[in-house]
Amino acid sequence: MILVTGGAGFIGANFVLDWLAVNDEPVVNLDKLTYAGNLHNLDSLRGDTRHVFVQGDIGDQALLDRLLVQYQPRAVINFAAESHVDRSIHGPEAFMQTNVIGTFRLLEAVRAYWNDLVDEAKANFRFIHVSTDEVYGTLAPDALAFTEAHQYQPNSPYSASKAASDHLVRAWHHTYGLPVLTTNCSNNYGPYQFPEKLIPLVINNALQGKPLPIYGDGLQVRDWLYVTDHCSAIRHVLAAGKVGEVYNIGGWNEIPNIEIVRTICTLLDQLQPRDDSASYASQITHVTDRPGHDRRYAIDAHKIEQELDWKPAETFTTGIRKTVQWYLDNAEWVTAVASGAYRAWMARQYTDTIA
Ligand code: NAD
Ligand code: DAU
Repeated sequence: MILVTGGAGFIGANFVLDWLAVNDEPVVNLDKLTYAGNLHNLDSLRGDTRHVFVQGDIGDQALLDRLLVQYQPRAVINFAAESHVDRSIHGPEAFMQTNVIGTFRLLEAVRAYWNDLVDEAKANFRFIHVSTDEVYGTLAPDALAFTEAHQYQPNSPYSASKAASDHLVRAWHHTYGLPVLTTNCSNNYGPYQFPEKLIPLVINNALQGKPLPIYGDGLQVRDWLYVTDHCSAIRHVLAAGKVGEVYNIGGWNEIPNIEIVRTICTLLDQLQPRDDSASYASQITHVTDRPGHDRRYAIDAHKIEQELDWKPAETFTTGIRKTVQWYLDNAEWVTAVASGAYRAWMARQYTDTIA
């Protein structure tokens, strides 16, 4: 049995689906079901006794104590977080509560549980903390990609909260001996990503005839990884990662935002042309830049590739085509998640990008 937190969100849900597709070990899935958590992501597991869903907060230590004793997991994988940089700029409180205090409570509950395990179970137990490349800050155009030794220089409330959680995880290993591993991954994309993030937002807006908002000049660079490749990397880290180590995860896919948006437009032009035959690229609109916007991220993934023999299965070309097709095939999913409350929030924050 493994315990996954945040398993109704984008990466967590993909991880749970992927995990149960490749092995039979059951999963307890603890998720608060914030706006970003969606049980429909797990519809295909309905009636599957290998998946137990519990709605709850990683900050609820009493609940965690009960779940850990009841299910006796051999590993905890922590995906639960507030994950959207723009939201963290407009309202950082929830990021501090979940990403910092929540991770602290989770670590304390896991430490108490782990301390009481018998020797073999104690030695084999793992806590995997899923983190981000944003903790390293921004890179100059000619700088080498982030290695695991790169200095932490978080620039947004989101990345500062994730950096804080990484430090807590590290300290719980150093001080208490908790067997932790941390992963720092680049930008994910693929099915079930909430349409507040660049790729699903652009696909969704394009199909609805709305502007495609590019922050600033659009030359900011992100390093993209298809979500199931992130999931397989985490499985490798759980299976063979060295306790106390950090593993960067990335696909060597540095691409400027404007190029991502143009690629999506070209794919949509082929797969679902506009009625007027114009390119979706005509909807591209440059808007005010994100405050403190990091210019470039790039992950050096040599360590996980060489030590754990992990490689991504998708290139950006194959992954983005699959992603666009998935959103075309799952229009109801997008309509359902982009509900009234979400749209009202977006309208308040980004009136210049909402049609
Ligand atoms: P997401 O926002 O799609 O999902 C987060 C999930 O966590 C949701 O299901 C939500 O309901 C749940 N959650 C939030 N607060 C909770 C709480 N207090 N208790 C329990 N559950 C809670 O995020 P995502 O994009 O799937 O990211 C998952 C993890 O991966 C995060 O830790 C994020 O920092 C990290 N990460 C994301 C990316 C990316 O590109 N999306 C890249 C690297 C790392
Ligand atoms: O790097 C990993 C991180 O990637 C994760 O830790 C975060 O959880 C995840 O949200 C993501 O953060 P970003 O800020 O990079 O993702 P986002 O999709 O919000 O933005 C990607 C880039 O596109 C970024 O440079 C901002 C830009 N952008 C974004 C949106 C939503 C736009 O130009 N227009 C937009 O409308």
